[in-house]
Amino acid sequence: MIEAGTTGLRTWTAAFFLAQYLLQNPDIVLQKRVLELGSGIGFTGIVVGTVQVLSQAQGSPLPKLWLTDVDETVLSVCRRNVDLSCNLSSLHGNIQVARIDWFDALNETSAYNMSFVIREQMDPELIIGSDIVFDPSLIKPLLSTLKLAITDSNRTALFALTMRNETTMSMFLSSAQSMGFMVEELAHLAGSTGTEEFLLPNVAEDMSRVKLLKLYWKS
Ligand SMILES: C[S@@+](CC[C@H](N)C(=O)[O-])C[C@H]1O[C@@H](n2cnc3c(N)ncnc32)[C@H](O)[C@@H]1O
Repeated sequence: MIEAGTTGLRTWTAAFFLAQYLLQNPDIVLQKRVLELGSGIGFTGIVVGTVQVLSQAQGSPLPKLWLTDVDETVLSVCRRNVDLSCNLSSLHGNIQVARIDWFDALNETSAYNMSFVIREQMDPELIIGSDIVFDPSLIKPLLSTLKLAITDSNRTALFALTMRNETTMSMFLSSAQSMGFMVEELAHLAGSTGTEEFLLPNVAEDMSRVKLLKLYWKS
């Protein structure tokens, strides 16, 4: 679970869940600039990149797709995975893997820099994340980062979160609401009740604990 001091060196169930949801609803990511927070070694982001490559009109560039994490080892594995020739993400041409530490959003100077990077360079229309609320201490930094990224009602976040601890999840929901986010729980996947229907086999073991949340600003 934790290797080399990070949880990012494996792919968690929520990542498969979110990937499955996006495969079933590709319009969510098509032609969208996407930022993934806490991407780990890149599974969900690579699926997003793949969906975008498969829909690419000949000759037209794809929108920017940023896979971000705090851990340098995780980021280097992620970069390698994105570029593997067996992954269509290697043909995307506009995927960037970069370091973002959510705690930077809490400090005035680093938040200023972070805000520049997220708003000016990345300019995401969709922010995604899977299994990124696993410790109460991450909630405020994560939501503060999200607040820098979601600047208007045209931008949304889609998080797949595994519920390990009810207190942590309710703390996340109440913090999000008190920071001004609207939070909507999306319906569970059509295939999540029967493992045989699941597009990504062998990962359906605890899908019922995964919550799919949409966060946005009220217009
Ligand atoms: C449980 S893993 C999830 C990885 C991947 N999204 C998945 O679902 O397989 C949590 C990820 O959040 C990242 N993370 C933890 N604290 C962070 C922080 N302060 N800033 C950015 N990423 C962070 C970790 O490095 C790790 O990759």
